[in-house]
Amino acid sequence: MSSRRKFIQNTMLLGAGMSMPQFMTAADFGAFTRKIKPSDQLNYGLIGCKGMGWSNMNAHLKMPQVNCVALADVDQSVLDQRTEDVFKLRGKRPKQYTDYRLMLEDPDIDIVIIGTPDHWHCLNMIDAVSAGKNVYVEKPIANTIEECQLMVKAQERYGKIVQVGQWQRSGSQYAEAIDYVKSGKLGQIRLVKCWAYQGWMKPVPVIPNGPAPAGVDYKMWLGPAPKRPFNPNRFHFNFRWFWDYAGGLMTDWGVHEIDIALFAMGVTVPKSVMASGGKFAYPDDASETPDTLQTVYEYEGFNMLWEHATGIDGGNYGTTEGIAFIGNNATLVVNRGGWKVIPETETVDSKKVKKVAEVPHTKGVGNALDLHAINFVEAVTANDPKILNCAIQTGSIAAINAQMGNIAYKTGEKVYWNAEKNKFTSSAANDLMKAHYHNGWKLPKV
Ligand SMILES: NC(=O)c1ccc[n+]([C@@H]2O[C@H](COP(=O)([O-])OP(=O)(O)OC[C@H]3O[C@@H](n4cnc5c(N)ncnc54)[C@H](O)[C@@H]3O)[C@@H](O)[C@H]2O)c1
Repeated sequence: MSSRRKFIQNTMLLGAGMSMPQFMTAADFGAFTRKIKPSDQLNYGLIGCKGMGWSNMNAHLKMPQVNCVALADVDQSVLDQRTEDVFKLRGKRPKQYTDYRLMLEDPDIDIVIIGTPDHWHCLNMIDAVSAGKNVYVEKPIANTIEECQLMVKAQERYGKIVQVGQWQRSGSQYAEAIDYVKSGKLGQIRLVKCWAYQGWMKPVPVIPNGPAPAGVDYKMWLGPAPKRPFNPNRFHFNFRWFWDYAGGLMTDWGVHEIDIALFAMGVTVPKSVMASGGKFAYPDDASETPDTLQTVYEYEGFNMLWEHATGIDGGNYGTTEGIAFIGNNATLVVNRGGWKVIPETETVDSKKVKKVAEVPHTKGVGNALDLHAINFVEAVTANDPKILNCAIQTGSIAAINAQMGNIAYKTGEKVYWNAEKNKFTSSAANDLMKAHYHNGWKLPKV
């Protein structure tokens, strides 16, 4: 445990008039942290307030029992903008922090939303649960497999409720599609295709390094990532195209689609993974991650193909993103727009007939992000992680599989996973599972 986190815990426990035992089980720890009753108001702090962090906070603020009492960000302009956004919604300004660790010391905060770039999630989440907070953390849960495994361990040790922002899990079209896949009506499924073709994600033009904007604590933005001069390309939003902070579309969109694919197929880890791709479309742009990638995963009895492309929209089945389950009787296609079943045909008495009834395109009902937030609040209020639609264990499966795709791409090998040893058979691939923290930051010990 970092000395900082120990400090946070001790402060919290002293506030409650208690002293800290040497080692606590999740049950012991729960006894020290606030019990939430259904009638309670829930006080939220948000870490990383710009893009998705704010979308999540906004979704939670649609519930009257949710208050936003604190914001933490390293960019003062983001803090100021979101402070006014909260004021407009609720008539009260939250407290501002540039160091999230100080925010976690507030014993009145029950819940923390984490919307920072991927390279921060592990530290943010483990600091938050060890300070007794329930957490809603963005996907992919982390930037390395080692961090993913550690975050699961931390949830289990501290027993807090942790939801991952893979909100497709709360979309009704996905639930219906998964039920259909599990019914067996598609016949033997040989291949699951997942894809994200993102036309709106344009190439990132090369621009020179320069000073960080006024009001930005750039050192704290980098955190455990390697030290380097500021470049606007690697900052807000575009960090996703640089390996130090994220994993490109393979992890950014991969976790959403792979999550549904694996859940429907009832598997968690592949036998092998291979990947091929590159900067084929925009060889000279600034991004490091491939603009084009095909990753082939082998699971027991079927393959899964991940495909992505930036800058173009022409994905499979005329859609920019989705998951297709390809069976002997039919193909089921599901995405954010809805789901449908396209039957195979066979000839019976000289007539072409459908092997199963067609399911016409059916849209989801309601806003899945809002429903995901409601599901989290229900789990916190009931203090029951079993009702979460996307617990950290679920989020880790999608993130680990997506990270494996990038590891196969980086090694250029067909990599084999040893499920018993929880690692690859290749040492080059195993090296890429590890987290390397810089600038004095230490990988948390759980
Ligand atoms: N679930 C979804 O559908 C979805 C959609 C978009 C993004 N995301 C995820 O959300 C995360 C953020 O992505 P984004 O596009 O919103 O990024 P962003 O760059 O718009 O926002 C990140 C914010 O975090 C802040 N930040 C960075 N380091 C910080 C620190 N140490 N302490 C406090 N704040 C810090 C930045 O200043 C910025 O305001 C990513 O992990 C991304 O994958 C999820």
